[in-house]
Amino acid sequence: MDTSSSAAFPLHVAIIMDGNGRWAAARNLPRSLGHREGVKAVRRVVECAPDLGVGVLTLFAFSVDNWRRPRREVGVIMELMADYLRSETDRCVEKGVRVTVLGCTQGIAPNLQTAIREAQARTARGTALWLRVAFNYSSRDAILSAAARFRRDRDRSKAAFSKLLAQDGERTAPDVDLLIRTGGEKRLSDFLLWEAAYAELHFTDVMWPEFGEEDLTSALDDFRGRERRFGCVGKAAVGATEAVPAGALAWLE
Ligand code: FPP
Repeated sequence: MDTSSSAAFPLHVAIIMDGNGRWAAARNLPRSLGHREGVKAVRRVVECAPDLGVGVLTLFAFSVDNWRRPRREVGVIMELMADYLRSETDRCVEKGVRVTVLGCTQGIAPNLQTAIREAQARTARGTALWLRVAFNYSSRDAILSAAARFRRDRDRSKAAFSKLLAQDGERTAPDVDLLIRTGGEKRLSDFLLWEAAYAELHFTDVMWPEFGEEDLTSALDDFRGRERRFGCVGKAAVGATEAVPAGALAWLE
C-alpha cells in the first residue's frame, strides 16, 4: 500500500459544494442565484482540475435529503443540472472529461434523465478527468443497495464491495484521497461514507460560488503536506512501538 504523501499520481478529490444559499443571502439575492453562481464555480474547478493532478472529481450537487427544500429551489437545481450537462458536454468531449452521474434517477424529470444519458454516452471516452456528479444521491442508500447485491456475491472482499458501489458498471472509482467541504460547516452529510474511509478532510470557509483554482490549489497543497498513514505508524513514530510493554497488546490476539 502506498502511504506516501507526495501523491504524484492522479488523485480522487470529492467536494461538498456548500454555501450557495448563504452567499446569496449575504447579498440580498434569492438562493437560486447562489446556485447559478455555484455552476460557474463548477465550471472553473472542472477546467483546472486535470492540470492540478486531479484524475477523478466527485461533486455533491443534490442529495436525497435536498428534496425537503422548497419546491421552487429544487426545481432550479434540477434545471441548472440539465442546463449544465447540455451546455458543457461539447467542452467536456473537447477536454477529455468523462462525465458520469451517481445517485438515483427515480423522481428526476425525464428531460434531466435524457441529459444525463446523453452526456454520459458522449463523454464516455474521456481520459483527462473523470467527473462524477452525485445527484439525488445518498451514500447510505448506495451502501444499502450494494449490500443487498453483495449478499449474492461470492467475493466478499472490500474491493468487491467497492466495485458494487460504483454505479456505472465499467470502472470502479478509486477511494477518495481528499474530501473538501466549502461553506464553513464540518460534516459529511451522507456523502461517500465508504469511499472516503481514509480520505483527508479539508474544510474551508469559502462559500462555493467563490471557490476557484486558487482554493483548489491550496486544498491540494494542504493535502500534499499531510502524512497518510492508513492505520500504520507514521515515519516519525517508527520504532516507538518498541516502547509498548510486552503483553500490552495481547487483547488484540
Ligand atoms: C449547497 O448549498 C448546494 C446545493 C445543495 C446545490 C449545489 C448545486 C449546484 C452548485 C448547481 C448544480 C450542480 C452542477 C454540478 C451543475 P446550500 O444551498 O446548502 O447553501 P447554504 O448552506 O448556504 O444554504
